[in-house]
Amino acid sequence: MILQKSIQEVIEASKIEEVVGDFVNLRRRGVNLAGLCPFHHEKTPSFYVSPAKNIFKCFGCAKGGTPVQFVMEHENLSFPDAIRYLARKYKIELEETEATPEVLEEQQLVESLYLVNQFASQFFQDQLVLTDKGKTIGLAYFKHRGFKEETIRKFGLGFAPETGDALTRLAVEKGYSNDLLRSLGLCSSSDRDFFRNRVMFPIHNLSGKVIAFAGRIMNKDPKAPKYINSPETDIYQKSKVLFGAFQAKTAIRKEDACFLVEGYTDVISLHQNGIENVVASSGTSLTIGQIRLIKRFTNNLVILYDGDQAGVRAALRGLDLALEEDMAVRVVILPDGEDPDSFVQKVGKEDFSVFIKNNAQDIIQLEAGILLQQSANDPTKRAELIGHIAHTISRVKNPIRRDEYIRNVRELLQVDEGKLVLEINRILQKEVEKFAQRQELEPRGAPASSEQGAGAAPGASEKGIAPEFGDGYQEKDIARLLITAGNKRFDSEEELTVAEYVLMNIEDVLAEFDQPLYKQVVEITYQLVMDKKEVTLDFFLHHPEESIRQLAINLSSSPYEYSENWEKRHDIGLSQNPPEENHRKDAENLIKRFKLRKIRRFKERNAQKMNDLFQANGPDEEIEACMQLHLKLKAIETQLAKELGTVVLK
Ligand code: UTP
Ligand code: MN
Repeated sequence: MILQKSIQEVIEASKIEEVVGDFVNLRRRGVNLAGLCPFHHEKTPSFYVSPAKNIFKCFGCAKGGTPVQFVMEHENLSFPDAIRYLARKYKIELEETEATPEVLEEQQLVESLYLVNQFASQFFQDQLVLTDKGKTIGLAYFKHRGFKEETIRKFGLGFAPETGDALTRLAVEKGYSNDLLRSLGLCSSSDRDFFRNRVMFPIHNLSGKVIAFAGRIMNKDPKAPKYINSPETDIYQKSKVLFGAFQAKTAIRKEDACFLVEGYTDVISLHQNGIENVVASSGTSLTIGQIRLIKRFTNNLVILYDGDQAGVRAALRGLDLALEEDMAVRVVILPDGEDPDSFVQKVGKEDFSVFIKNNAQDIIQLEAGILLQQSANDPTKRAELIGHIAHTISRVKNPIRRDEYIRNVRELLQVDEGKLVLEINRILQKEVEKFAQRQELEPRGAPASSEQGAGAAPGASEKGIAPEFGDGYQEKDIARLLITAGNKRFDSEEELTVAEYVLMNIEDVLAEFDQPLYKQVVEITYQLVMDKKEVTLDFFLHHPEESIRQLAINLSSSPYEYSENWEKRHDIGLSQNPPEENHRKDAENLIKRFKLRKIRRFKERNAQKMNDLFQANGPDEEIEACMQLHLKLKAIETQLAKELGTVVLK
């Protein structure tokens, strides 16, 4: 374990321009640097590096952060490994604490599990190519399926002989313990091999270590399962693994897209035909862990379905998860009766790729299309349908992408865009309200106390809430700042504008805005910045939407209002000068205060979820994820509170 003080040292030594500069060609733009974003494809630079702030930010794909975050993201490393990477770069010697005996033991166990699996994998491979049975049964089967020897080697395919205990006996002879073999599911408690007379597919983790196996039966036997799999172990958690990810990861990044198929053989077949950015979900619906795995390499997911409708509809479930992770999800339905394996073998790489290109449908459009068919000429169903689509679109966090979806779907459904937007905002609003109902009213100026909140009578607290209760004030102030000072310099040395600064800092909590109108101001500003247009009061005053024009008039005609009650309301001292001379300080405090509120809210909601999961005896990994999130939020909260000079009570 790396000592905190070493971590600090590395963080302080890491210069964003040097770290990014190793991978991106950066050009000066004022005091900032700009270049082409390494995380998504783009023709004109929207990727910025601010040496002064020591952060990077892409206005195209919305990624941003510190040097450590850049390394984690770009090199796909864990936090400690990113620190180690930077320590090497800056020639800093890391001090690491001695791991406790428990930690060491756990590490040793994990290492031994890998070793045993590696041994088993080699055993299966040898059986396939070196034994008569392997050659005449296993290898013949793979050849019959059209797999070349090179492909067989690349995926480490093998053969498990029919003999009851060939693997177990040899492994024990070589000194591997029965206990380890059993805990990996390779043999039974009576020491019989688990995989017998099957062709073997090893499953790798991202660094190429064998973590599990799947064995396929070679003849058709209605009584036996086609595939049998290793059980879950310390090194194999099904929900976080995708078959082929190790072999595909470089290609996924290069193509900036990932194909998702169902079967092991589909992955292998596509690879052999030169399509390498492909992974398999292994016949189950996609989990959040798997989505995050893909998201480490690309935001573009293309799902290839066999040409039968039942499968498609089943698979549409669960894809909301991908949308929530802000992935662009497209779907290709293959011709009737084909799966990716059979189809690519039939038509070859070129035609296969053309087919994908011509038939990839956006997931939301596909869903709309299917539902539309079902609701033809039935007005009640149509209303339901619009509600349903609105719900799906509301899952998309990125406002820009959400707008795109709205535009696309609008045409397809022939519904008024305004109606759809309204519906979506209503859903988003409802979610925030649902959460707010569980929260005690936070006394102004005093830290939130949630002990009281839990016992409060339901419905009592939200009575009499003023329209601008809660975060409305801060949201309004942010809208005001953007409308009246968006194009002002954030500070004199830097090229950053107030709008850019605000966007950089609130984007991650944008979904938490309570007031749709203020949120819309942020979204409009976002679009302007992305389009490299100026964020001017004039623009808002002449906006096509009446509500925005009105807002701009109101906010710009009372420029001093927000500093009047500011200190009373938010117990923070603002500068004494008129606000237009203090954009920087105002913006900074505004953002911090706003974020603190939102973070507290996230934290509460997360705690509630964690509690629910505990009560319901939910999956450990989800509880664990909640805990991790809790720690992260707590750290941010403490940091923000410190900067604002307030105290975090718990
Ligand atoms: P398929 O039946 O489509 O198998 O199941 P496949 O991969 O195309 O294999 P071939 O081409 O018939 O040889 C898709 C996936 O579902 C999982 C496997 O991961 C398989 O690749 N599956 C299927 C099982 O785990 N067990 C089964 O009994 C069947
Ligand atoms: Mn198949």
